Amino acid sequence: MPVHPIRDVAHVGYVELLTPVLDESIRFFVDVLGMDEVERADGASYLRAFGDYERFTLKLTASDRSGVGTTGLRAASPEALQARVAAVAATPHGGEWSAGEPGRGDTYHFADPDGHPMALYFDSAPYEAPADRRPTLKNQPQKLGDRGVGVRRLDHVNFRCLDVDANCTFVRDVLGFRMSEQIVTDEGDRQLGAWLHVTQKSYDIAYGGLDKDGMPGRLHHVAYFVDNREYVLRAADIFLDAGAFIEVGPAKHTIQQTFFLYVYEPGGNRIEIISDTRLIFAPDHEPVTWTATERKRGQAWKTIMPQSWFDYATPADELPVEAGVR
Ligand SMILES: [Fe+2]
Repeated sequence: MPVHPIRDVAHVGYVELLTPVLDESIRFFVDVLGMDEVERADGASYLRAFGDYERFTLKLTASDRSGVGTTGLRAASPEALQARVAAVAATPHGGEWSAGEPGRGDTYHFADPDGHPMALYFDSAPYEAPADRRPTLKNQPQKLGDRGVGVRRLDHVNFRCLDVDANCTFVRDVLGFRMSEQIVTDEGDRQLGAWLHVTQKSYDIAYGGLDKDGMPGRLHHVAYFVDNREYVLRAADIFLDAGAFIEVGPAKHTIQQTFFLYVYEPGGNRIEIISDTRLIFAPDHEPVTWTATERKRGQAWKTIMPQSWFDYATPADELPVEAGVR
């Protein structure tokens, strides 16, 4: 751990999801999750939740498979961007600059040790709502969502990986993430999962090492936040009526205590709707460690997760049986 915490990464700015059914995925995020599409270009759609201050937080890209594309990290300043780029470039995981996504400035692309594409940028044009989306109060980016679930903001991304420790060490030492919670084997010799943050939220990214297929670079889920549990419960009813595959929830996680609901978008990627994000204010917070045996008792209220939640990650050859055949 560095003596002085690195505060160069401000937050996760966007996540790119790959989908083999772009139009269906767009309809899900717009009509069911209630997000707004702000731009469509070159086989990609850019979407935002009503509380996101940047122009978009989700990029949907047409692909022959599901999975995660680039996870964009906004730096805290131009100097912070240069410092983190220099740190990444000094590792075997260095990358290259590009012109950036719409509304974003020059962006440095690289990958974590497991191969998940990542990007660092600073310049970001704030979202300016069109006339029909302009809010009454000037301290919010746009009017509240008026369709579907009405998610407020991007919350976190959860990756599958082959070696949790290698990825956790990389994002801690090179990017400045701080670990808030982890799962280790009963012997304590190996990390099985890690939750890391750069904001006061207790996690912004997470790594799980339970990838049964041994495939690197996969996604477990992307999470969007709603204000309270009632909205999560309502989201479950909305998914039910929309015919979306609800995998598990609503219920409460043990780790981080987040209230959760998991659903699959039409492209096959798992999406989590959450409330009750835990905040960490202590500058000297020590990671909370759970053993594999402790995790076997299930989630906070003893909810036992279905096997698909442990096994399924994208890209995947098949959806879980319960999700039906596309
Ligand atoms: Fe999550």
